[in-house]
Amino acid sequence: MKIQVKNLSYIYGEGSPFESIALDNISLNMQEGEFIGLIGHTGSGKSTLVQQFNGLLKPSRGEVWVDEINTKDKDAVKKGLRQKVGLVFQYPEHQLFEETVFKDVAFGPKNMGCSEEEIQTRVEYGLNCVGLDPKEFSERSPFDLSGGQKRRVAIAGVLAMRPDFLILDEPTAGLDPQGREEILEEIRGIFEEYKITILLVSHSMEDIARLATRIIVMHKGKAVLDDTPKNIFRQRDILKGMGLDVPEIQECMVQLKEKGFLVKEDALTVEEAYQDLVDVLRRKKDA
Ligand SMILES: Nc1ncnc2c1ncn2[C@@H]1O[C@H](COP(=O)(O)OP(=O)(O)O)[C@@H](O)[C@H]1O
Ligand SMILES: [Mg+2]
Repeated sequence: MKIQVKNLSYIYGEGSPFESIALDNISLNMQEGEFIGLIGHTGSGKSTLVQQFNGLLKPSRGEVWVDEINTKDKDAVKKGLRQKVGLVFQYPEHQLFEETVFKDVAFGPKNMGCSEEEIQTRVEYGLNCVGLDPKEFSERSPFDLSGGQKRRVAIAGVLAMRPDFLILDEPTAGLDPQGREEILEEIRGIFEEYKITILLVSHSMEDIARLATRIIVMHKGKAVLDDTPKNIFRQRDILKGMGLDVPEIQECMVQLKEKGFLVKEDALTVEEAYQDLVDVLRRKKDA
């Protein structure tokens, strides 16, 4: 399973007085097994880009290939594009509408023409992936759930299509800290246990630094950086120039370094920084 983007440009309202270039000549490849973080300032083109991957939007110029499917092909959806690439929109719970969780999660598989038995299996799979016990939740109304649970039901609905590749557009937006933490842990589990390739769009450098194996940075419709989290966050000044921050903990370590402490200034997680500080203090004590 792979996605190839070749010289992709996308223009909203092309030819109208309101035309705006949202994606500007992007080329990149994504492979199975990656956990890609997509970051960029508001309006940089992240949502427009991810909607190209399951064919909701089609290139104005260039091409997007999902395995052997060209998304511009008019049979792309028939050829199984949506089963390969699942897209969870921002605020996906706004699209919940059935009276039970089961029916909501079953919506996609039902539309695909799955048998009753297959639907049952897929609903259980989807709910298990997001840590909701099917026995406990299937018959409940989605509208009686907490914000975080609603969002997990919406994600389960996409997972019930059994995609190889799962894209989540700002999945923690608007949740309280506990809801955010739960969703992120579920996403980590979907990647590690269910072996689904992930593309996570996020504003939070903390979340991305913790989970991603690769980061793509968008700026004004271009994919300007594409590297490991360490290499991306080392380019602190470039990121700042694009209105982006580094993880707070890294900022903290940089400031300690400026004050003369010999700490690792590229620590990206609290655990990593903590370990480094312990080591530094030990060395100091031994000296
Ligand atoms: N439906 C639309 N019609 C016209 N312009 C749009 C539309 N959606 C987004 N845009 C414009 O495209 C650019 C990229 O937007 P978007 O992909 O939503 O960025 P992001 O997700 O990074 O915030 C922005 O300039 C935005 O104003
Ligand atoms: Mg967006």
